[in-house]
Amino acid sequence: MLRLMLLLAVVGSAASQCSSDGNSVCINIYNKCPFTIWPGVQGSFVPNGGGFKLNGGESKQLRVPNGWESARIWARTGCDGNMNCETGDCRGNTEQCNGRGGVPPVSLAEFTLNGTGAQDYYDVSLVDGYNIPVLIMPIGGTF
Ligand SMILES: *[C@@H]1O[C@H](CO)[C@@H](O)[C@H](O)[C@H]1NC(C)=O
Repeated sequence: MLRLMLLLAVVGSAASQCSSDGNSVCINIYNKCPFTIWPGVQGSFVPNGGGFKLNGGESKQLRVPNGWESARIWARTGCDGNMNCETGDCRGNTEQCNGRGGVPPVSLAEFTLNGTGAQDYYDVSLVDGYNIPVLIMPIGGTF
């Protein structure tokens, strides 16, 4: 039952945060970059069709099941009008990746919620390479 904040890049101040309950977890995604990104989302549940646009400085809240697993969030950058992206492209020519992953190199925020021992697991992984800075921050007092 973590309340999580995903920061894509690292400067700036926090905006409003959403809350979690017993059955779901809310993830706040902040685009701290000065440019537009298109986050992609994959996992055992695919919120928001698996992708959306975030202008520089914008944030979005994703609600996922407490039990979300094999989950990844990454940023697509430099997308044109046909959603051909310089990094992280999910090869569908759509804003929503519908469960498809991103083409490396991409920095990944990885999650397994309510996993082994009822623990929440999360990490930033460079196993698929690196495109932009990513930070995951649990919000104190909510777990
Ligand atoms: C967490 O996982 C345990 C073990 O699988 C399950 O019994 C429990 O219902 C889960 N909790 C939630 C909130 O899904």
